[in-house]
Amino acid sequence: MKRIYMDHSATTPTDPQVVEAMLPYFTDKFGNASSLHSFGQEAAESLEKSRQQVADLIAAKPGEIVFTSGGTESDNLAIKGIAYQNSKRGKHIITSTIEHPAVLNTCAYLEKAGFEVTYVPVDIDGILDVAELENAIRDDTILITVMHANNEIGTIQPISDISKISKEKGIYFHTDAVQSVGKIPVDVKELGIDLLSISSHKIHGPKGIGALYIKKGTCIQAIAHGGEHEGRLRAGTENIPGIVGFAKATTLAKESLEVDSKRLTELRDLLIKKVLDSIEYSYLNGHPTKRLPNNANLRFSFVEGEAMLLSLDMKGIAVSTASACSSKSLEPSHVLKAIGLRPEDAYGSLRISLGKNNTCEEVDYVVESLIDVVAKLRDMSPLV
Ligand SMILES: Cc1ncc(COP(=O)(O)O)c(C=O)c1O
Repeated sequence: MKRIYMDHSATTPTDPQVVEAMLPYFTDKFGNASSLHSFGQEAAESLEKSRQQVADLIAAKPGEIVFTSGGTESDNLAIKGIAYQNSKRGKHIITSTIEHPAVLNTCAYLEKAGFEVTYVPVDIDGILDVAELENAIRDDTILITVMHANNEIGTIQPISDISKISKEKGIYFHTDAVQSVGKIPVDVKELGIDLLSISSHKIHGPKGIGALYIKKGTCIQAIAHGGEHEGRLRAGTENIPGIVGFAKATTLAKESLEVDSKRLTELRDLLIKKVLDSIEYSYLNGHPTKRLPNNANLRFSFVEGEAMLLSLDMKGIAVSTASACSSKSLEPSHVLKAIGLRPEDAYGSLRISLGKNNTCEEVDYVVESLIDVVAKLRDMSPLV
């Protein structure tokens, strides 16, 4: 059976060139980057070269990159690190209702620790209301954390507008750019960002590695304590094979960003058009244009997302209902709820996230399969 992977927002296949770059670091070049001998120095050199490569993707300086274990840890370090370091100035944080659990649950944790969090709503397309965010700012606000692009509906937020406000008010601005980096241009200086989270496995790099960009001069403290690694902000022997693989993935993403983004946008729009044209009572969730090049989140009345997902899986097609992190939850997606969908509509939604290896033929096969699956499920549905 043909196997088609269209769940690239959950994770991506590691690029063979990334695997090749990593391999020597498991065998010959296994040194600890903190060791003074040549094995250690070899690792330390690779670490700093990788830091430069990751910095290049987002137009940062290498000294502004801290390697972490991935997006979740980067979000935790950014939010808790700023909160704890700046708590004497204030204990108020602003975020949005559609953040990834890595941000929402970190904020919930801080609420229990005495911080206050305002959750700014989004409109029907999933775009944050900047005026409402500005209204939420208080004298004791120390941090605004709003994601760049949403992992479920792909909506891209007005990051520059938010950073302008945060700068005017002297408030730190963090963005979770796990889904956007490598897919759309991200220039931290142009966007005016203080802290930005990245994850390697979303851009054809290995899992368990990521980075936090921290603008020079930002007052932040470590959340894990130990040795003097990563500018004392992230203790622990560096994962050199992972870091080298991540860096290779960022270089590959940078080289092909323009071409991939154009091709994926065309493929995405073709997929959306074909589905909406050929399946009655189907709709697009999220903004029609202000969305990631690879994201199509579609809603089908009278059918259940999980049943569609499993039926498509039997045809060899991998998609998802919400984010992979919430796939075991019985609750409707908090993102789809936040854009105003009724629970039954949220349950009837599918996220199809394309990748650089997907083809037009695969899109055709997925659309044909969807037509078949939706028809069969509607035949059985008591709701029709
Ligand atoms: C927007 C967003 N933030 C954070 C994460 C967590 O990243 P990681 O899996 O690297 O911990 C994800 C992963 O799906 C994500 O989509």
